[in-house]
Amino acid sequence: MTLTPTQRFLRACRGDAVDRPPVWLMRQAGRYLPDYRRVREQVTFLELCRDVDRAVEVSLQPIDAIGSEAVIFFSDIFTPIPGMGVEVDFRPGPVVATPIRSAAQVAALRVPDPRESVPFVTEILRVLRAELAARDIPLLGFAGAPFTLAAYLVEGSGSRHFGTWKRMLWREPATARALLDRLTELTVGYLGAQIEAGAQAVQLFDTWAGMLSPADYREWVLPTHREIAAKLDRSAPLILYVNDGAHVLEETAQSGADVVSLDWRVDLADAARRVGSRVSLQGNLDPCALAAEPTAIAQMVRDLARDAAPARGHIMNLGHGCLPDTPVEGARAFTAAARSLGQR
Ligand code: CP3
Repeated sequence: MTLTPTQRFLRACRGDAVDRPPVWLMRQAGRYLPDYRRVREQVTFLELCRDVDRAVEVSLQPIDAIGSEAVIFFSDIFTPIPGMGVEVDFRPGPVVATPIRSAAQVAALRVPDPRESVPFVTEILRVLRAELAARDIPLLGFAGAPFTLAAYLVEGSGSRHFGTWKRMLWREPATARALLDRLTELTVGYLGAQIEAGAQAVQLFDTWAGMLSPADYREWVLPTHREIAAKLDRSAPLILYVNDGAHVLEETAQSGADVVSLDWRVDLADAARRVGSRVSLQGNLDPCALAAEPTAIAQMVRDLARDAAPARGHIMNLGHGCLPDTPVEGARAFTAAARSLGQR
């Protein structure tokens, strides 16, 4: 079977037969890459997200630097938020100037047309798609999921427990619901514009949804995923990442997503049994394991592929994003090992 990287990726998403799993790494364009740091010295992170030429350049870096087989456009989950009328800065994580804590603040949030509020996003995707055509490498779009965006908007910044946001679910459920509804509407429009501009698959990042009990997850998180899955143009597969979500795996598999992206706390063989043929799986090496020797990384990749074999499809990836101190050598060993799975 001779597949181009795009064919292999899209077939794995849908559970069609492939020669071996495709491979890419979450947060693959970032500070662990010397070429990224070189570009980043010239501009702030926010400027980089809005600078089409530079954003295209850093999006493409992981292809040659680490041998990745998919490109995710360079941006952040907070990119569409200023268009709602919320001031955001990065230090280095997102910081909201005036946290959203009241019903009146939620009511004042705009849901803009992304083609007008973030025209650089669709432009970056159009340029990337043209650049990738010759090699037929798939282009991925992404967005932050409503629960995770709401967590930062209410809390004001990253936090260990996001207590202010969680308490809002019980003290002011109508305000919390209204905020999630606005963010769901924003995300449907934002991912839709990305697909229209050339994204061939899209990933929804729900980094903080795993903090809820299964029952609370079903009430507050699952409906947002379902609505997004139902309203998107499904010619582009939807990948759903829920960090720390082992206890809600059945729910993520019922979201309507094509692929569930797992963190490293889940055993892939066990996950494959639990989700059956409903979805494909993505993941799930601990990013810190890229500090191991290349031969050890190769063995871990073979083990992941073996464990994921019962799943209807598998995309080799990490269980969370690359970290600033991820060794480039380790990332390269990871993609090389995935590629050699096809050779026997
Ligand atoms: O994957 C990629 O290569 C594409 C780019 C991408 C970034 N952020 C670039 C970035 C993606 C997909 C994200 C997603 C994102 N951003 C998530 C969800 C995924 C996850 O990691 O859980 C979240 C929660 C954020 C919010 C965010 N942005 C945080 C917490 C931080 C600071 C942490 C850190 O890594 O420093 C950012 C800043 C950020 N986003 C950087 C990059 C490359 C570092 C900015 C810099 O260069 O100074």
